Amino acid sequence: MASSLIRRQFALSLQKNLRLSAPGCRYVSKAAPKTQVEFDYSGPSMKTSVPGPRSQELTKQLGHIQNVGAINFFCNYEESRGNYLVDVDGNRMLDIYTQISSIPIGYNHPALLKLMSNPHNLSTLVNRPALGILPPENFPEKLTESLLSVAPSGMSRVQTMACGSCSNENAYKAMFIWYRNKERGHNTPSDEDLSSCMVNQAPGCPELSILSFMGSFHGRTMGCLATTHSKAIHKLDVPSFDWPIAPFPRLQYPLDEYTRENAQEEARCLEEVEDLIVKWRQRGKPVAGIVIEPIQAEGGDNHASPDFFKSLRNIARKHGCGFHVDEVQTGGGTTGKMWAHEHWGMDDPADIVSFSKKLLTGGYYHKDELQADKPYRIFNTWMGDPSKNLFLSEVLNVIRRENLLEEVTHSGKALLNGLYELQAQYPGILSRARGQGTFCAIDICDDATRNRILIKARDKGVLLGGCGDRSIRFRPSLVFKEYHVHLFLNIFNDVLAQHK
Ligand SMILES: Cc1ncc(COP(=O)(O)O)c(C=O)c1O
Repeated sequence: MASSLIRRQFALSLQKNLRLSAPGCRYVSKAAPKTQVEFDYSGPSMKTSVPGPRSQELTKQLGHIQNVGAINFFCNYEESRGNYLVDVDGNRMLDIYTQISSIPIGYNHPALLKLMSNPHNLSTLVNRPALGILPPENFPEKLTESLLSVAPSGMSRVQTMACGSCSNENAYKAMFIWYRNKERGHNTPSDEDLSSCMVNQAPGCPELSILSFMGSFHGRTMGCLATTHSKAIHKLDVPSFDWPIAPFPRLQYPLDEYTRENAQEEARCLEEVEDLIVKWRQRGKPVAGIVIEPIQAEGGDNHASPDFFKSLRNIARKHGCGFHVDEVQTGGGTTGKMWAHEHWGMDDPADIVSFSKKLLTGGYYHKDELQADKPYRIFNTWMGDPSKNLFLSEVLNVIRRENLLEEVTHSGKALLNGLYELQAQYPGILSRARGQGTFCAIDICDDATRNRILIKARDKGVLLGGCGDRSIRFRPSLVFKEYHVHLFLNIFNDVLAQHK
């Protein structure tokens, strides 16, 4: 009797919180001021189901040229604005996936369009240099005002690259080069080093390894792929390195309700890391570097505590391994700080921090000692693109001018609270709501339901992404305000109510 009363009271207070009177009714926000994003649309507008007829026709056309299995629909980027992606059938969707988390300040931001119309920028936009040999006059200045202005603590050097994988691939090479020079005690290779490396043999190609974590995603090039363990489809049929793989903590959420259990789980994983480092040394394949995401993204939005990362950093130091933090997906402000590792509160968080996506250019920051000692060791034709640094400078100006990191923290809280409430409302469908800033996720009861929900939400004008086995990940741009959060929660509630 008492327990049913409590349950009823709980349901009532929940209804009040959600302002839901019956399933399917609109979630009405008490704090949903009109959008403050000047170049935004006012809401989604759907004309067809997605993909619509024009998208289907184009997919067929492209199918004669490429594999189109992953294509969702075709886009009209001219008409897309702010938080809204418009497709070729005229559907306008609230984009909470933003090109796999890579649009920093929304579509067609006026500040970025203005850069395009400035005649002083034309040569940067038109001429893509081979940066490693022929950089433009303003390159050091532009790097300083863009990437170096947000350099992680303890790092004043940055190497630009093209994409996330290419950044990680070269960061691994930098760790190997650093490690071998440490082992040699100098940086002059022997004749044997030089001849053996030409036929892929030791000592020139040494038996070194990178330790990564189960569930991680670091890219799809061959070295990166050896450290990627999120989904079999990425790895199937591709030869790989025999490198150590440690368990990533599998935490319970909300984190503050399970501190004891989670600390035990993290301690278990850290112990395993040390064991693996010792074992691999004994096997003659010492660990030159450890690579980790601050939040495992593609692998299912798996979090770990600042204490876990601090301990891991110390383990790397103790065993002489480089510590590489892959911020390709977490970097650029989405967690409410420019870098997710800032949440750990460390002065010396890493030896290498790689980035791409919201930073527009790929690359990695590194400690001085990880600077390659000779030219052409870390090198490719383009080594980034100065036009991307130009855009990035302006993105950073907008972030500062509009306090977007604070805004992200604010809308992230509203998003996570909304997810907690919906999770209480739909316990048979939703669980494990989690997040930092707007970098949030929630689990769905099973993979098939997750996929159906993603499609239903899209047909109602909300674009979301999946990750892990059965999670939905939220990856809006930094101009996703509380107004958009409530807009999304309303639609998500409708989708869930239909699923009940
Ligand atoms: C954490 C992380 N590292 C690396 C990559 C690879 O980046 P790219 O797809 O640009 O090669 C990704 C891509 O999603 C990522 O999320």
